[in-house]
This record gives sequence, structure tokens and C-alpha cells, in this order.
Amino acid sequence: MLDLIYHLPEQLQNAWVVGRSCSVRKRRKVDNVVITGMGGSAIGGEIVKSLLLADTSIPVMVWRDYRLPPMVGRRTVLFASSYSGNTEETIAAYLSGRERGVQIFVLTSGGRLAEMAAGDGVPLIKIPSGMPPRAAIGFMSIPILVVLNKLGLCHNYEDDIMETEILLKERMNFWRRRASALGNFLFKQIPIIYSMSRVLDWVGYRWQCQLNENAKVIAHHGCLPEQSHNEVMGFGAPDFINKRIFIIGLFDKKSAHHRTLIRFQEMVKLLRGYIAGFRIYETEGKSLLARMFSLSVFGDLVSVMLAKQRGVDPLTIPRIDELKGSLSRRKM
Ligand code: PA5
Repeated sequence: MLDLIYHLPEQLQNAWVVGRSCSVRKRRKVDNVVITGMGGSAIGGEIVKSLLLADTSIPVMVWRDYRLPPMVGRRTVLFASSYSGNTEETIAAYLSGRERGVQIFVLTSGGRLAEMAAGDGVPLIKIPSGMPPRAAIGFMSIPILVVLNKLGLCHNYEDDIMETEILLKERMNFWRRRASALGNFLFKQIPIIYSMSRVLDWVGYRWQCQLNENAKVIAHHGCLPEQSHNEVMGFGAPDFINKRIFIIGLFDKKSAHHRTLIRFQEMVKLLRGYIAGFRIYETEGKSLLARMFSLSVFGDLVSVMLAKQRGVDPLTIPRIDELKGSLSRRKM
């Protein structure tokens, strides 16, 4: 897993090439973009959504469920995104998009989705197989950006991708050392991650998922300022978790309101008796893409370092596999 994280800069480059090779035909006026997928295959959609929020007026939604919402219609561009191509929720969403005559793109390394796309004449963005889906974050995001650019729905992110590649290469060793130190703090604690601006919400959630899947620990993500209006009241109960929670604040100076950082600082003061500690981590880089990746890759490294300290294998996800297996034996 560590190796895959270290090779993310090359993956971003290859993902760009994969996206360029997809043939795109502009069909009609577009009202919205929906990216449907689950787990590691949905996070690419979140990256696209955050970038487009700052870039265009087209609404982008990430949909993690079987049935698509009513807003999906003939003027929707839908990406059905599943690394394996066999995730039942994504297959069901693809089928409901097909029924509604939506313009669909399939993003996958193979499986049933690839077969259905070939059979239905749906453009297939084929990515390399053999990785854990959550490690294919570049392949699950960049090709979508390229296709949306070809459709004229967003600008060309090539420079931002290049900046991100350079930043990751330069900072990886430093982040790894810092991740190892944070891993020590998190050992035997419950991590709570607070994202302090909306473009970092997916990053906070990515931290939670990576800690769950790679390090096999329970973790929780919340958003500030919202959670300071409700969740803050929950600290202290049940009392056996007092001093067992470690708070991580994710901060991006360019997108966060300055009051949110003050809010975070005042909030952790109030929680002093209940938490084991806290740290704030700030984004690095110029473009939004690079800034988001700077903290998301750091989170990936933390999850792997914690996995190492806990003696668990970050590559395997037996409980998820078992659940998929038992569901596949139940009638749809
Ligand atoms: O990271 C993982 O392995 C999971 O979160 C998967 O991404 C999730 O189960 C969905 O599978 P897939 O990505 O193959 O659609």
C-alpha cells in the first residue's frame, strides 16, 4: 500500500492519458453531472465535485446508492464508477440510468460493468486492474475531469495535475515521517477528523475510510462549523471513551472562513477534559487539486503507518469481501 501511495504521481499522469483516450460525443445541453459509485470508487467523484464547485455553475452530485434520484434525466451526464466493475449498487444505478436515456460513461477496470458498457455501446474508460480500489484514486478521478473538459463542462486541469505530481514527489518523505508520528498518537485512540472547509469534506471522509479499511480502526469524520453546533455536546459520554479521542483538524487557508479556525481552537479548549489531544494540519500547494491531495495523501500515509503499528495488513478488507459474498448469494 505504501508503494502504491508513493507511485500516485505516476498514476495521476497515466490517469490523464486514460482520460484523453476516451472518445466523447457532445449529445445535448447538460443540466447536471452525477457520479455514482461506492467506497473507494466514489471518492474520485468527490474530487471532481469539489473542483467543479469552484469552477462551474453545473451541479455535480456523488450518488452512493442503488436507485438514482429523480433529478437524473436525459440532460444528465452520468459516470458509473466501480473499480472492480462488480459492485451491485453501482450496477443497479447504471441500469436505472440506462432506462432513463442518460448519457453514461463507465469507469472501471473490468467486471460486469465493462461487459454491459460494451454490450450497450456506452463509452468505457478502462483503467488498469490489480489495485485495491481506494489506492486507484487518480484513476477514479482524473479521467472524469478530462471527459468533462471534452464536453466543455469544466476547464483543463492539466497544469494543476502537474503541480500535484511535483508536490507529492517533493513532500512524500516528509509526510511519511509526520504520519508515523501521528500514528503513535492515534494508537489506541479514536480518531475524529474535522474538515474546516467544504472542499476538504471529502478529504476528511477519505481519512475516516482509509483508517477504517487500511488500519482497521473505527474513526469518525465531521464538518466544521456545523459540528460545533451539535456534536460538541456529545463529548463526555459514554464516559469510558473520555481521553480516548484524538481530534484532527484539516485546514485550508484559501477556502476556510477565518472564524472556522478560531471556532476549532475554542472548541478544543472546551473539550480538554474529554479528549486525548488534537492537531491541526494545513494544506500545501497552489491549485485546489494539489491542496486537496496534499492532505488526502497525508491521511493515506497515516492509515498505513497506523496499520503497521497495529500489525494489520492495509491491503486486505476481509469483512467487506465477506459481506459482498453473502449479498451475492441473496436474490436481488
Ligand atoms: O476501497 C475499497 O476496496 C472499497 O471501498 C471498494 O471501493 C468498494 O467496496 C466498492 O468496490 P468497487 O470500487 O470495486 O466498486
